[in-house]
Amino acid sequence: MDYFRIEGGTRLRGSVRISGAKNAALPIMAACILCQGEVILRDVPDLADIRLMVKLLERLGVKVWREDGTGEMHLMVQDETNTHAEYELVRQMRGSVCVMGPLLAKRGLCRVSMPGGCAIGDRPIDLHVMGMAALGGRVELLGGDILIKAEHGLKGTEMFLAGPFGSTVLGTANVMMAAVLAQGTTVIESAACEPEVVDLGNFLNACGAKVTGQGTHRIIIEGVEELHGCDYQIIPDRIETGTFMLAAAISNGEIEIQNCDMNDMLAVVDRLRRTGVNIEKGDDRTAVVSSSRRLEPTPIVTLPYPGFPTDLQAQMMALLCLADGNSMVTERIFPDRFMHVGELNRMGARLHREGPTVIVEGVKRLVGAPVMASDLRASAALVLAGLVAEGVTAISRVYHIDRGYEQIEAKLSALGAKIQRLQE
Ligand code: EPZ
Repeated sequence: MDYFRIEGGTRLRGSVRISGAKNAALPIMAACILCQGEVILRDVPDLADIRLMVKLLERLGVKVWREDGTGEMHLMVQDETNTHAEYELVRQMRGSVCVMGPLLAKRGLCRVSMPGGCAIGDRPIDLHVMGMAALGGRVELLGGDILIKAEHGLKGTEMFLAGPFGSTVLGTANVMMAAVLAQGTTVIESAACEPEVVDLGNFLNACGAKVTGQGTHRIIIEGVEELHGCDYQIIPDRIETGTFMLAAAISNGEIEIQNCDMNDMLAVVDRLRRTGVNIEKGDDRTAVVSSSRRLEPTPIVTLPYPGFPTDLQAQMMALLCLADGNSMVTERIFPDRFMHVGELNRMGARLHREGPTVIVEGVKRLVGAPVMASDLRASAALVLAGLVAEGVTAISRVYHIDRGYEQIEAKLSALGAKIQRLQE
């Protein structure tokens, strides 16, 4: 199994290009189930999660092929017989659940395995199912699978789509994709506002759908007869962008970040600047990030967009370990998303968990140690800590990081980091 060996202490310098957004590409790939004709997607990152989605779509009768070495992906529906997203794939990646809406809308039937839990907590899909039922889907539970039928098509309706933790990103995506071919108009109140949801809405419109309000809490979808193919560019990955901003800050380096949309980063930029990180927006989607050695303690609360993203909570915590004082980090989306706390403490951090909050006591230095990745973003936090820790850090189970970061060790090495991918 691969592991990373990182020698800390290098100040990162140079330029890095951000890849296309994983969490935009996954629902957009699923949406291709709705289309008659070929879809070309550009800037699709080459990640484990994307390869899993390709596997799932191929089982669902979609032909998928990539132009080697580019982010270009072609997708075309060839066979609509299979409507079952099996547990074997769904348990590996929760994002698979977003085939539910398109299958139901286009094939009148879907059988999707319940995703089960993962390292950041249990991942219910009750809101997804509620949305499908509201559109007229008939729901049954079948041995851990959700079976939904709509032989006579779906009917537009109004719905309030939020749970105890607020809106749902993939739930909003599923309902949007189910509603585009429904009879009549659908209003999603309390829809997720994430940029990835906006990207999906824009993609659907490029295929002939009538979606308005994406990016606000009220999305309106007017059903149409059919969707055609299109040629579409995926947005840059704001979580990868934030991760490299933090890499510049934690290593006391200076990085030019290319292909980043700073409009999606306002909450992250606010917290980084509050911590003492310098961020200058360039033109044509670039930014230069650097920091002084002294970091201010900063409170962090994760919230649905436009709040501070939960997917950067672990990485921000790694930076705050070295702040000059105590910070509080509160996780409002996935209250158990703290698998990185124990591992950072092994590196000399002083983190004390109190329920959904971690008190981060600033320390002067971190020390390299063997640590274990547990989930995608926790492993990114350990990489950041390894960049600054004294000595060598060995991070095992890096397959977690391969799910969401394209060639992270190559990108970091190009910035001067001493990081190697080795075999255990
Ligand atoms: C998406 O997950 C992202 N994944 C996650 O990124 C991200 O952390 C999350 O949104 C929040 O921003 C993809 O887009 C593939 P939610 P999603 O439904 O849609 C609860 C990463 O690291 N909820 O917005 O599954 C849920 O438990 C991943 O790239 C229900 O209660 O998240 C959570 O507490 C990790 N019932 C909250 O809502 C439901 O039916 C938000 O979850 C659905 C969700």
